[in-house]
Amino acid sequence: MDTHSDTNSLPRLGEAAPDFDAQTTHGRLKLEDFRGSWLILFSHPADFTPVCTTEFIAFAEIADQLQARNVNLLGLSIDSTYSHIAWVRTIKEKFGVDIPFPIIADLNKEVATAYGMIMPGESKTETSRAVFVIDDKGIVRAMIYYPLTTGRNMAEILRLVDALQTTDAHGVATPANWRKGDKVIVPPPGTTDDAAARMDEGYECIDWFFCKKAL
Ligand code: BEZ
Repeated sequence: MDTHSDTNSLPRLGEAAPDFDAQTTHGRLKLEDFRGSWLILFSHPADFTPVCTTEFIAFAEIADQLQARNVNLLGLSIDSTYSHIAWVRTIKEKFGVDIPFPIIADLNKEVATAYGMIMPGESKTETSRAVFVIDDKGIVRAMIYYPLTTGRNMAEILRLVDALQTTDAHGVATPANWRKGDKVIVPPPGTTDDAAARMDEGYECIDWFFCKKAL
């Protein structure tokens, strides 16, 4: 059975993020309100569930580190604002953690549908654990999808933001398991002349196509 539907289309990397104008725990917010800063828009399956609670605490713990990178957080689930408010208050009461970021109350699934956050094979009524990294110009730069049963890794989210911002700033790429401060990949040469010259350009090269440098 084809479960794909155009009503749950997926944004594409390198293209404009779908606009939204949504009710949140911090009042109405539009995508354009975040222009000039980066945005991590993330969905969770439901309020008052244990894995989501651990994730919210973990997102709150990295909020300052993201802010230092000019990145805002915005949560979303198909729950009401009242449910979000009650859950945030419970997290404060039981775990002593303030949730500093807004949460979209997407009861009509409008934003979830525009961003392809609902995976009907897993749940038709809950959003999956999606993360959209949207840059300061409103372009989708990365997407991560996790299933309902697996909590996300905040170190990877910070690493991903660092990698995107580093590649933007320096015109390089980052290798597997790269972390801020590690050497970066110099984009491979596009011509035979550039390939011949590459080994003498002061990079650390294993071969003409595989060169690294420190920043
Ligand atoms: C949770 O957050 O604990 C959860 C939510 C949906 C399905 C399974 C676990």
